[in-house]
Amino acid sequence: MSKQEDTTQRAVKTRVLTGIKPTGQLHLGNYLGSINPGLRLAGETEALFMLANLHAMTTLKDGEDMRRLTYEAAASWIAAGLDPQQHIFFRQSDVPEIPLLSWILSCYSPHGLLERAHAFKSLKEKSLSQAATGKRESINAGLFFYPVLMAADIIAFDATDVPVGKDQKQHIEIARDIALAFNHNHPKVLVPPTARIQKDVALVPGIDGQKMSKNYNNTIPLFSTEKQLKKRVNQIVTDSTSLEDPKDPTRCTVFQLFSLVSDKSEIDALAAKYRAGNFGWGDAKRTLFDALNERLAPMRVAYDTLLTDTDKLDAIFADGAMRARKIARPVLARICQASGFPLAAG
Ligand code: ADP
Ligand code: TRP
Repeated sequence: MSKQEDTTQRAVKTRVLTGIKPTGQLHLGNYLGSINPGLRLAGETEALFMLANLHAMTTLKDGEDMRRLTYEAAASWIAAGLDPQQHIFFRQSDVPEIPLLSWILSCYSPHGLLERAHAFKSLKEKSLSQAATGKRESINAGLFFYPVLMAADIIAFDATDVPVGKDQKQHIEIARDIALAFNHNHPKVLVPPTARIQKDVALVPGIDGQKMSKNYNNTIPLFSTEKQLKKRVNQIVTDSTSLEDPKDPTRCTVFQLFSLVSDKSEIDALAAKYRAGNFGWGDAKRTLFDALNERLAPMRVAYDTLLTDTDKLDAIFADGAMRARKIARPVLARICQASGFPLAAG
């Protein structure tokens, strides 16, 4: 960390923050790439975990769906091990300091920087390629501003470390660039954040072998029933090597997923079975299903229980909002002060 960052007027040296959009059923990629590394990185220290519902609005417009998906994401996170007393667990929309900061930061965000954001660029290219068909998808300005809002999520809390999957790396780099641009005018006011990407789970493959994502319909949901989990595992695409033939574990999605949820001795044992032959895809998938189910079954019970008590989830949100704002307000006061106006009471 540079000298400049070290002298920023922040309350703590390290602060972990991450966010997830409540836009669909959480899947194994979210759990292994974001939820679990976030919880591990936070460890015993208080960290911030945010339900990014304002980001979700770029694509999710139905209020009822938003409400339901936000509860589901909250229950998922808690069932996966997040302790809302130890950590600060909050909804993005409950912290009005975030959108205020988002505007301030937008004035330090070069248009070209946002145009180069992968997520926006690919949407724009897709939209352009649809022009000939006459069915061009429109891109709302929220999608263009997405990285600025994300920078505000992080910077509002002086967060230093942001555990995310590899696909979010560029967004954190943009947040860092924006913080440095602000600091160029107002030295040492903002804390430039760093992405923390756990290498071995940087990209969890989906059932078709490409990145697991709800956009590709290739996910293994975290909280489906046992029957649905089995069905999904059985749908994993494998090659046509016959049962008797030895198989290469390194090029197999079933094996990759197994490796992500097992310890070394279990991984070595499965690799040996692959290489020995007489071990079919059905056997491999059964082994993966058992490993996943053993890990997910207790979480599934916790998830179902939490969803029956939304009052409890509301109380958790209220407590999280209060604690999150307690951190964000002095940070915003500092930023407003540097910008030449006071932070409005609130
Ligand atoms: P999706 O691609 O399904 O829309 P999100 O973009 O909502 O997932 O991702 C939420 C978090 O989970 C992010 O930190 C992201 O990097 C992580 N994540 C999502 N999919 C994967 C994956 N396949 N492997 C690793 N991390 C992932
Ligand atoms: N953009 C992130 C995603 O799609 C979610 C997110 C919103 C986030 N704000 C954040 C992640 C702040 C980390 C920090 O996954």
